[in-house]
Amino acid sequence: MVEIKTPAELDAMREAGRIVARALQATVKHAAVGVRLDELDEIAATVIDDAGATPAFLNYHPHFAPTPYPAVLCISVNDVIVHGIPDRYRLEDGDLVSVDCGAYLDGWAGDSAVSFTVGLPRPADLALIDATERALRAGIAAATPGNRMGDIGHAIAAVAQEGGYGTNIDFGGHGIGRRMHEDPHVPNHGRPGRGLVLREGLVLAIEPMFVAGGDSDYRTAADGWALHTLDGSRAAHAEHTVAITADGPRILTTE
Ligand code: MF3
Ligand code: CO
Repeated sequence: MVEIKTPAELDAMREAGRIVARALQATVKHAAVGVRLDELDEIAATVIDDAGATPAFLNYHPHFAPTPYPAVLCISVNDVIVHGIPDRYRLEDGDLVSVDCGAYLDGWAGDSAVSFTVGLPRPADLALIDATERALRAGIAAATPGNRMGDIGHAIAAVAQEGGYGTNIDFGGHGIGRRMHEDPHVPNHGRPGRGLVLREGLVLAIEPMFVAGGDSDYRTAADGWALHTLDGSRAAHAEHTVAITADGPRILTTE
C-alpha cells in the first residue's frame, strides 16, 4: 500500500533525514586511506545515537538476505555495488567508497547514500560518481505531482545510457515513511508517462547505482549481502529521501 504523508509528517521525516545526513557527513569526513570500515560504522552509530535516533539497517532482515544486517552503514568499496558490510578492511589509496545510511527518529525513517574516493582518485571513478549524482538529481527533478514513476526511472536510465554505465535492475529505490522500505518500488529504469501517478505527500528513496563498463551482472558475496560486479568493474551509489510536494521535490536527507 502506498502511504501518503501529511505536511506535519513530512516535517517529522525531515528531522529523521537530517540525522542521516549528519551521520553520512561525519563518515565522509573521517574516511581516509588507512581508516578501517568498522571505524566508520562506529562514527555513524555515535552520531545517530547522540541525536536520539535509531539505526535503520542494524538487524534489518529483508527477504533476500540470509541473516539480519549486522551494521549501521552499508559501505561498498570498489567492485561492491551496494550492501557491503563494514569490516576490518582499511581503505587504500584510490578506493571508490559508497556509504549508505538509514535511521529512525520519532518513528520516521530516512535513507541516503553517497559515493566518494579516498587518496588519489582514478579519473574514471570520478566520472562514474558524477554520473550517478547527476542521475540522482535527474530522478529527483522528475519527482513532481502528476508525473509518473516511469518518468523517474527513465530520467535515471538516460544518464546511465549516455555514460555507457550499467544499472542493477533487481534493486532500486522505494517508498519510505514509518518503515524504511514501503511501496512503491522505484526502478532505476522506466518508460516516460508510464506507471504510478506521483502525488503530493508521497515520499520516495531514489537511489541510482551505476556500474562502470555497462555490464550490470552481479554476484552475491558469501556473507549473503554484498553485491559484487561480475567483471570486477567499479560501482557508485547515490540516494536521497525525497518528498513530492506542490512546490516540487523536497529533499529530506540534507543537514
Ligand atoms: N538504501 C539501501 C536500500 O534501500 C539500504 C538497505 S541496507 C540494509 O536497499 F542493510 F538495511 F538492507
Ligand atoms: Co534505500
